[in-house]
Amino acid sequence: MTSLTITRPDDWHLHLRDGDMMKAVLPETARHFGRAIIMPNLIPPVITAKDAAEYRDRIMSAKPDNSKFQPLMTLYLTEDTEVKDLRAAAEIGLIHAIKLYPAGATTNSASGVADFSKVQRVLENMAQIGLPLCVHGEVTDADVDIFDREAVFIDRVLDPIRRAVPELRVIMEHITTKQGADYARSGGDNLAATITTHHLVINRNHILAGGIKPHYYCLPVAKREEHRLALLEAATSGDKTYFLGTDSAPHTDENKLLPCGCAGCFTATNTMSILAEVFEKENALDKLEGFASLHGPAFYRLEPNKDTITLTKGDPVTYPDRIETAQGDVTMFDPQFPLHWRVT
Ligand code: DOR
Ligand code: ZN
Repeated sequence: MTSLTITRPDDWHLHLRDGDMMKAVLPETARHFGRAIIMPNLIPPVITAKDAAEYRDRIMSAKPDNSKFQPLMTLYLTEDTEVKDLRAAAEIGLIHAIKLYPAGATTNSASGVADFSKVQRVLENMAQIGLPLCVHGEVTDADVDIFDREAVFIDRVLDPIRRAVPELRVIMEHITTKQGADYARSGGDNLAATITTHHLVINRNHILAGGIKPHYYCLPVAKREEHRLALLEAATSGDKTYFLGTDSAPHTDENKLLPCGCAGCFTATNTMSILAEVFEKENALDKLEGFASLHGPAFYRLEPNKDTITLTKGDPVTYPDRIETAQGDVTMFDPQFPLHWRVT
């Protein structure tokens, strides 16, 4: 096969940031993707309906003139989130999900939830109106090894939440483990999982073996090869539980390369080329459309995009090593294998 036309994909987990950084990274996503779930972890975070409406307006005015890209807004769940505000924002279609960050789990997550009993009423209201919860699934306890934090989160936090509020619709975001993939698969219609591009490509050796590679450091951190293989199996299985959420998370090289560097891989630009290569290697090109374009809208109760993109196979495609922004350069995720599929 040398050409593949699929329904235009969406990105169900994206960091656009704000200001100059947003201006630089937004066109990279808008080029291929119809819509994206926009993460609310700005400084300060997007907490109220008013914050989300203003952020959406900034995105709409920063996007390229001819682009039909649609940002799907989210609110950042805090222990003080107001049910009334959240319900009003959902009713007018302003927000499509609420994001749960355990306090301290990752970039700008200090305002996240520490005491889960404090958000129980909010979760019950979300279940009532069918508003999904996007979950960053890692415990933050210092005594839990960073490579175990996802599996422990499922047992200690996620499973109890789902038992307490069974009708709540949950997306386990950027799963990185076999335990995550298995739990998502076993969860019925109210549970789904997103998988990033980079977690289909790297394992922890890419970060740590032969010298430390800050550009492969993200959260949740990539795990052992057996876990990458479980994610690959899940993504290419055709199971509607799983869909694409790139977690493309731009940080300037300056901030990535600090002694305490930021977590995040920037994949907005080359994701579709990488995914086509990865799915082809698994003999699963026929499953790419489900993963990137169909399963996500089905879970979010939206129509798939009406238009298509075409991927064409040929000589290796080259992407720039980094994109320039007014805040500094942002290095693009390097899959370390040639890419033969381009979006034409
Ligand atoms: O690697 C990550 N980067 N993981 C997250 O959860 C947050 C993100 C960011 O905002 O940079
Ligand atoms: Zn993220």
